[in-house]
Amino acid sequence: MPLVSMRQVLDEAAKGGYGVGAFNVNNMEQIQSIMEAARETQSPVIIQASRGARAYSQDRFLYHLMVAATELYPEIPTVLHLDHGNSPETCKTAIDMGFTSVMMDGSLMPDGKTPSTFEYNVEATKKVVEMAHAKGITVEGEIGCLGGIEDGHGAGVDGLAHLTDPDQAEEFVKQTGLDALAIAIGTSHGAYKFSKKPSGETLKMDVLIEIHRRLPNVHLVMHGSSSVPKELQDIINQYGGKLKPTFGVPVEEIQLGIKNGVRKINVDTDNRLAITGAIRKVFMEKPEEFDPRSYMKPARDAMKKVVAERMTQFGQAGHAKDYAPIPLSTIAQQYAAATVA
Ligand code: 13P
Repeated sequence: MPLVSMRQVLDEAAKGGYGVGAFNVNNMEQIQSIMEAARETQSPVIIQASRGARAYSQDRFLYHLMVAATELYPEIPTVLHLDHGNSPETCKTAIDMGFTSVMMDGSLMPDGKTPSTFEYNVEATKKVVEMAHAKGITVEGEIGCLGGIEDGHGAGVDGLAHLTDPDQAEEFVKQTGLDALAIAIGTSHGAYKFSKKPSGETLKMDVLIEIHRRLPNVHLVMHGSSSVPKELQDIINQYGGKLKPTFGVPVEEIQLGIKNGVRKINVDTDNRLAITGAIRKVFMEKPEEFDPRSYMKPARDAMKKVVAERMTQFGQAGHAKDYAPIPLSTIAQQYAAATVA
């Protein structure tokens, strides 16, 4: 099947009461890991690429790898999503290339660093909604700012600096008409999220629950949701790495989120850790190796294992064949009809 609408995948997740992991990619092996995990667990899947990933893959490599994924795994509903689009222009280039979902991150200015005003965010996001929905493409927006920096994108602040205000979230959804809403509840991108296991003081699940109470029909998105498992940190450090002690988002908190409207869960760091640990292990144990496949295959297997585990924990496992994909042209008509109504 061709790449599918993220809106459809999230609507189905809402009906089934489960979440869908959105995994970042830069290269062929990461796409292979995710597709293999999706096949093994029979999961619908969201693959996402940041601006950095698009530059790294020269865009066209990414696009054709994703076409290959749909050809080789035709039974898996697969979304290609732009992570953290910094401007309507960037979102347009993604839509033109064939992404079936885009994030317009208007919580930051187009420099990807400076927190924006509410008015700017509404204006930029609305513009993307109009452009994307005309083609049946899904739009994710963000209100409040995530902590940390990812691929050069991010305010670089503490996760608690710009938490989402539930009043603003309500107003933002009303004014923009977006499909999915990323909220800031204390998480940040990258490995260094929390210095100890997060509590209600540092991971504001109460804010998430309040937003869901007010917006029960909006698909919520949790960014910065890697769990940064100690086992993965230990493998890297055992084989010569130098990670400092750190804590991520516990899976049980994500599961609480899923019970409260979270439908998309962004995970990148856990996969980076798994890949790096596997490569370090081969380099340390077999210093004579120089065939890239000797370390890329274990790296791919290690990432697949993490992705399959998350797919099971988020509840998307077993749902790949629940529904037939709706063509984007039909979805565009549905958006148009809803706007007119
Ligand atoms: P992690 O760094 O926690 O994996 O988050 C990734 C992310 O939110 C991508 O947008």
